[in-house]
Amino acid sequence: MVKAAVMTGIDQPLEIRDDVEVEAPRAGEVQVRMGASGVCHSDLSMQNGTMMAPVPIVLGHEGAGVVERVGEGVTGLAPGDHVVISWVPQCGECFFCLRGEAELCERSMTALASGGLLDGSTRLTSRGRPLYQMTAAGTFSEVSIVPAIGAVKIPDDIDLRVAALIGCGVLTGVGAALNTARIREGATVAVVGCGGVGLNVIQGARIAGAGEIIALDTNETKLRLAKEFGATASIDATQRDPVSQVMAMTAQRGADVAFEVIGLQQTIDQTIAMTRRGGQAILVGVPRMDAVVNVPAFFGVVLAEKTIKGCWYGSSNVRRDVPRLIEHYRAGDLKLDELISRTIGIEQVNEAFEAMKTGELARTVIHY
Ligand code: APR
Ligand code: ZN
Ligand code: ZN
Repeated sequence: MVKAAVMTGIDQPLEIRDDVEVEAPRAGEVQVRMGASGVCHSDLSMQNGTMMAPVPIVLGHEGAGVVERVGEGVTGLAPGDHVVISWVPQCGECFFCLRGEAELCERSMTALASGGLLDGSTRLTSRGRPLYQMTAAGTFSEVSIVPAIGAVKIPDDIDLRVAALIGCGVLTGVGAALNTARIREGATVAVVGCGGVGLNVIQGARIAGAGEIIALDTNETKLRLAKEFGATASIDATQRDPVSQVMAMTAQRGADVAFEVIGLQQTIDQTIAMTRRGGQAILVGVPRMDAVVNVPAFFGVVLAEKTIKGCWYGSSNVRRDVPRLIEHYRAGDLKLDELISRTIGIEQVNEAFEAMKTGELARTVIHY
């Protein structure tokens, strides 16, 4: 039996249970002893009902650990291997994977919709009931079973806390800059929301060679962090209209590329408005299901020749991008240790949610 944090209902504190039973991995699955899991805003979004979740569910999707057992037919992974959990398992064979859009893998979408693994069922049980697993993962558990196509082997010497962050915030944020937007050298970039994901958009923009990186947040600590991660200017979004402040900094044109990395209706509207004619607005944050993209078709899109682009998992191909990110980290281009504001035990996960609401911390990481 292992310990896990279980969501039992909307707005209920996660229950820390130590009676969770783990079934053996089935064909194509691996058992992972979790080394660390980041607490990402999407976990909070499930707990507070912004995103739908079946209950009871083990949350957590930003994790890394060590393979303990492999199911039938698993090749390329063996007990002892260190892995980053990819919350989008990527099969390499479906329509999307074959077209270089692995972040949209059909098999991952089936799992996501079911709340279980690839076949919709789940390997964790507690008190006589199956526990769903967030994004075919459930990294808020000492041990989890995940699809082998959702586990990416990494070198043993990478700190698992750092590796965990690669699994969501870093792949998503850096990927948004490098893959989704393909930022050009010298570009003027605006990043709305400088949390665990937004800070990674900023460092991705820096790596892409952006000329100016304007960070926007309502929290002063975050704006300071944004500068450390590569922002060249910052805007306190609580003061005056953020859109007109970006306009003032860009000769009234707007940014070449603007990213929304929070998931709020208001900031989605602002991000689209602060994008220049011919530019790209990239929507990264996961909003409430009733949020809409509200733009006048002629003035806002046709005449403005503006691209409004969604970003799912940083448009990442995890087998290509995880090794690349590790190279950037080793070369000193990618700040990952600096993202970790606090390390906690799994018992303190509800405190991490509270801290996230204040917006003071970059990332809290659960260390098992
Ligand atoms: N204007 C500007 N910044 C804001 C505003 C606002 N109106 N409201 C909140 N913020 C800032 C917060 O201060 C915080 O720094 O947005 C940031 C959000 O960061 P986190 O809570 O750390 O969220 P993060 O984990 O980065 O996730 C961001 O991406 O993956 C998705 O579901 C995730 O939608 C979420 C988004
Ligand atoms: Zn996440
Ligand atoms: Zn696929």
